[in-house]
Amino acid sequence: MASTAPAVSMQGVTKRFPGVVANDKVDFEAAPGEVHALLGENGAGKSTLSNILTGLYQPDEGQIALYGKPVAFASPRDAIDAGVGMVHQHFCLVSRFTVAENLVLGDRRGAGRRFQIDPSAIATQVRELGERYSLPVDPRAKIWQLSIGEQQRVEILKALYQEARILILDEPTAVLTPDEADTLFVTVRQMAEEGRSVIFISHKLHEVKAVSDRVTVLRAGKALATVRTADATPESLTELMVGREIETVTRQGHAKQENLPVLEIEDLWANGDRGTVAVRGVTLTVHSGEIAAIAGVAGNGQRELAETIAGLRPPTKGKVRVSGRPVHTGDAQAAFEAGIGYVPEDRLGTGLSPTLPIAMNLSLKSYRHESIGPFLRLHLMRHKAEDEIRIFEIKCAGPDQETDELSGGNLQKVVIAREFSAHPSVLIAASPTRGLDVAAVEQVHSYLLSAAEEGAAVLLISEDLDEILALNDRVLVMYEGTLTEADDRTSVSEIGLRMAGETPS
Ligand SMILES: Nc1ncnc2c1ncn2[C@@H]1O[C@H](COP(=O)(O)OP(=O)(O)OP(=O)(O)O)[C@@H](O)[C@H]1O
Ligand SMILES: [Mg+2]
Repeated sequence: MASTAPAVSMQGVTKRFPGVVANDKVDFEAAPGEVHALLGENGAGKSTLSNILTGLYQPDEGQIALYGKPVAFASPRDAIDAGVGMVHQHFCLVSRFTVAENLVLGDRRGAGRRFQIDPSAIATQVRELGERYSLPVDPRAKIWQLSIGEQQRVEILKALYQEARILILDEPTAVLTPDEADTLFVTVRQMAEEGRSVIFISHKLHEVKAVSDRVTVLRAGKALATVRTADATPESLTELMVGREIETVTRQGHAKQENLPVLEIEDLWANGDRGTVAVRGVTLTVHSGEIAAIAGVAGNGQRELAETIAGLRPPTKGKVRVSGRPVHTGDAQAAFEAGIGYVPEDRLGTGLSPTLPIAMNLSLKSYRHESIGPFLRLHLMRHKAEDEIRIFEIKCAGPDQETDELSGGNLQKVVIAREFSAHPSVLIAASPTRGLDVAAVEQVHSYLLSAAEEGAAVLLISEDLDEILALNDRVLVMYEGTLTEADDRTSVSEIGLRMAGETPS
């Protein structure tokens, strides 16, 4: 423990993929007891660098040392044995197993004796770890029964259970509510105080400011600078990250015309995945050119509402109309043909087919309309994809690249490009900027505004109050399946009260 060697030292690390240098001679160090933030635009190389440190990828060049000792990881197993744990951007839990089973699964100490392990002893251990680190979770629950926030706790517990001394968290807060994020920061600081090193990846500068000791900024695969967090400001970090200032887009001076109702929802009810009622009698009209923003803490029925309107979930009751015409509910194709576009919060599940080329994903919904010879169709598809890749600045090797090779934020851009370029008359955007870098957030905001300006009825669902406040023409709050309208669309305190299920007096 008296050693002063850095916990992590990466020197000249280079990783090439076909058509891209994801990490370019990166030098990176993290000290014991330090929270070190990794910052950079979508596709800058943050996840790749982390994946090298966890043995998932092997670097093409460069050296890695942990606590002064050179290491070379042939697999994630080796990295875990050396004390490196990672919570990935997209989780790696087995959903039909319990929490306790998932912990034992990845543990070599349990290998070969999985069935001799006393389940109640593990349950006790999980509970103790959970209490100690403010990560409460029921050890006997099956993963599929847990919320996303709880699944993340399991991932962190798993790393702690494996006695990770170096823990990488790849955009952990992208899937958390603001309250959950605050709790996570307490856990992160505690882990650091115990001498662990936490590498923390986020696009949110205020989080980086709140939780980290130092920041390393990556740009286009290169480590540009490492600075002490105390010496940095959100502006200086943005400047380092993108090399310019970012202008914030807001809904300013929006004159409301006498516009026609486009999306009409009448007494809509729907169940959630666990069979309980998730949407309770929602009635809502969104007009052409209007951005109706739905605020709320995740898990209050927003996802089910969006899926029901988009035809992915059959309602138990209620009607949806677009421009006066009834839409056949529970039918995604009917919703698409009625002009409903949907950017889902779950980009890899309902959003994309990860193993298809990017061009296919971009045309996934419209292919039926390009009903011409198969060769011409492929040709057109590639052309369209090339345009969209350019317009939406999707960082990739080209339209034929497999979609799951893209960075997290660029995956999100593929979904957005596909939905926006279909010029829908109704656009449902659920957490559309989750996982996007600061520049891309503003880009998506300006697309939302132009969709409204072109006459679309926009339903923006977000947990990010800043986003809600920047873009809305009106604010609705979803709480336990019911929607209420804020009297003052600019009042943070009113919206906050409604999010907690209270009505302002
Ligand atoms: N398995 C892979 N095959 C091919 N290219 C890849 C692979 N993994 C990453 N890349 C490419 O490497 C570059 C860096 O990606 P990486 O995922 O490290 O970015 P990131 O900084 O984590 O971005 P984000 O903020 O969007 O998550 C991107 O251009 C990406 O497309
Ligand atoms: Mg990433």
